[in-house]
Amino acid sequence: MNSEKRWKTIAIVSLILCFMSISTFAYFFYYGRGHTVDRRQYIEVTKEERHMILREMRGLLKGVQGIIKAVSEQNFKEVAIQARSNGMVMASEAKEHAALVTKLPLAFKKMGFGTHRSFDHLADRAEKMSGDEILKETATIMNNCVACHAGYRITE
Ligand code: HEC
Repeated sequence: MNSEKRWKTIAIVSLILCFMSISTFAYFFYYGRGHTVDRRQYIEVTKEERHMILREMRGLLKGVQGIIKAVSEQNFKEVAIQARSNGMVMASEAKEHAALVTKLPLAFKKMGFGTHRSFDHLADRAEKMSGDEILKETATIMNNCVACHAGYRITE
């Protein structure tokens, strides 16, 4: 290969590499966040069902806040009451919406019921646990909140 040819090859390869870097950057710049949002699965339900689910969610948040507050006051009886309020009793309203069974993916239902059962399990033992143990278990249960929110959206 003569020197002119070699320089041409280097120039072409450099151009290609440059183009690849720019397009990779542009791809992640453009899709970076959008992709994460799009990766959430959309679950289509009726307006009433969506409101019922979101009401249940706000109840869960209230329960978690109640648990943390009760731990800070060393009131373990109250921890049990708050944890119980986030238990399976909460799913009773959902049972009235039988059609939801077919609309919610199995993984979603498993995570939802699993969360309620875990709060019941915590309620059963809260009065015999230390504050640290309760907070640790609450944080573990809340992995479900984080995981489910990362995976799903509800639309009407
Ligand atoms: C099985 C799935 C699942 C689990 C488990 C879950 N969530 Fe949710 N949550 C959702 C979905 C889906 C939405 C609606 C998100 C959307 O459409 O943007 C939501 C919305 C919410 C909202 C917003 C309510 C509103 O009125 O808009 C709160 C607050 C919330 N969740 C709290 C919690 C807390 C706290 C936990 C755990 C203790 C939890 N969630 C567990 C699926 C779940």
